[in-house]
Amino acid sequence: MRRPLIAGNWKMHFTVPEGLEYALHLRHVLEPFADREDIVVLPPSLMLWEIANVLRGCPIEVGAQNASWEDQGPFTGEISPKMLAGWCHYLLIGHSERRQLFNETDEMLNRKLQAAFRNNLKVILAIGETLEEHDLGRTQEVITRQLSAALYGIEARRAADLTIAYEPVWAIGTGRAATPEYANEAMSSIRGLLQQKLGPLAGEIRILYGGSVTPANAATLMQKPEIDGALVGGASLKQADFTEIVRAAAEAVRSA
Ligand code: 13P
Repeated sequence: MRRPLIAGNWKMHFTVPEGLEYALHLRHVLEPFADREDIVVLPPSLMLWEIANVLRGCPIEVGAQNASWEDQGPFTGEISPKMLAGWCHYLLIGHSERRQLFNETDEMLNRKLQAAFRNNLKVILAIGETLEEHDLGRTQEVITRQLSAALYGIEARRAADLTIAYEPVWAIGTGRAATPEYANEAMSSIRGLLQQKLGPLAGEIRILYGGSVTPANAATLMQKPEIDGALVGGASLKQADFTEIVRAAAEAVRSA
């Protein structure tokens, strides 16, 4: 079994003081699980630096929810991967909210991936089909397009720095998670595509499930062989819920 990764995507929630206080609590309760899994929080960029400092010396890592494909320049409102380099561990790229609400294209995401790796950030690349695509039976086609475009020109040696988050858009924030069987099957085809693109090193890439993960479904999801962890939205904002999901991953390791 690959070492699990649980990432909490806070999206656009919490004020700076609230985020700092929450990070301090998480540090306390989650540290005991960090020997069996990787735990990452993705706060809004405004509080990222402060939270990285709060978590310094503790095994919980931080990630950014978004960054530019450029290292610097006249890009009002953007933050760059170069600004994150050296202290921020992960960058989330390709979340469906970025694709849909901010019109990020596959080509832009490929440039972001290149920029992240150029600055030695680890990447969580999110992919997944919309409800319409799902209902039309186009899931495989969408996943193939998103992965192929994002990974274009990426060298196989980068595999160790790459994590994929399979997030069916219809499951995000709806309370309607994919069944473990459905997610496992989609992720197994993602694994096949990664092997085609990156060769044997693709075996190191973790594939997370995201979309309405809760304490109630986390354990059964993580029992599936292809599910290496979770990208958690709403439930990552509540300490008790996020802790239970982190605990479920630790127990999946123990029972493997
Ligand atoms: P929810 O867990 O709220 O469905 O959000 C999932 C998500 O978008 C994580 O990136």
